[in-house]
Amino acid sequence: MNEITVDQDVLLLREELLSGLRKPQKTLPSKYFYDETGSALFEEICKLQEYYPTRTETGILRSNIRDIAAQIGTDCLLIEYGSGASVKIRLLLDHLDRIAGYVPIDISSEHLLQAAETLSRMYPDLMIQPVSADYTQDFELPAIDVPHARRVVFFPGSTIGNFTPREARHFLGHIATVAGNRGGLLIGVDLKKDVSILEAAYNDSRGITAAFNKNMLVRLNTEFDADFDPDTFRHRAVWNALHGRIEMHLVSLHEQFVHVAGERILFRRSESILTEYSYKYRPDEFAELAKPYFRVEHVWTDARHLFSVQYLRCVSRRRSRPA
Ligand code: AVI
Repeated sequence: MNEITVDQDVLLLREELLSGLRKPQKTLPSKYFYDETGSALFEEICKLQEYYPTRTETGILRSNIRDIAAQIGTDCLLIEYGSGASVKIRLLLDHLDRIAGYVPIDISSEHLLQAAETLSRMYPDLMIQPVSADYTQDFELPAIDVPHARRVVFFPGSTIGNFTPREARHFLGHIATVAGNRGGLLIGVDLKKDVSILEAAYNDSRGITAAFNKNMLVRLNTEFDADFDPDTFRHRAVWNALHGRIEMHLVSLHEQFVHVAGERILFRRSESILTEYSYKYRPDEFAELAKPYFRVEHVWTDARHLFSVQYLRCVSRRRSRPA
């Protein structure tokens, strides 16, 4: 029974990859960035001078933490999506009053458990309930048996920008269901800004983002029996003003055939694989996107208006009974 399930999973992943590579604009799912090498490269990206989001978001959280804590209120159950090493959450844990519990959710159960152990040593009285799940897919949060006034989801990093607006709205709907009626969402949202700042953030001078992008090909070689030569592809990140997004591509330097999971794929010279979208929003655009599920209560930003941290409250979706 188990073996059949595993085989079906592998078949589904293979089909997902190949269907993207058969499209006129070839695509690869950005979830393939984050194997061990990719996650380590992403941590490097977060420390880069050009990559402003991480340090700007941390700065905003630090400078406004009292205000943020006041918005969230007491006795809340904090739920973090994509908790990783659970670093930013410590600011909240240090400043929120009477936290009912902390529920970190991450796809990598190994990292999740490690981070939860470290945190429970630092906050021995805090109830921590790690949940290993792919939060990009709809999933049910297990019952959390601790009294709390409301649930507040923490989703930092502007990862919401890696969804298309349609996917982002669907995802916000899922968060609203998890947070429930009196619940809230504390979210990091990257803002629209000068193209030169945006493009530099995704084309860093040390080539770390290029290595992060190309690592996707290395991963396909080891895990999907592919024979990409990463040196024959060039990293390209550009601002698409029409759609309000950074697009990351891998561009073939010459015409070539590549084998992936038993299929032969033709790449023309300069043909690209689209590997990631990173949407940027004006505050009013994000409020409009979230409107079916949330009302924006507060937007904190930095002096240069590069990034925002926003607190949203779930709108009640209880329908009034017909008379
Ligand atoms: C994870 N995510 C918010 C990053 C971003 O900025 O869209 C991923 C990334 N891709 C290249 N650099 C960083």
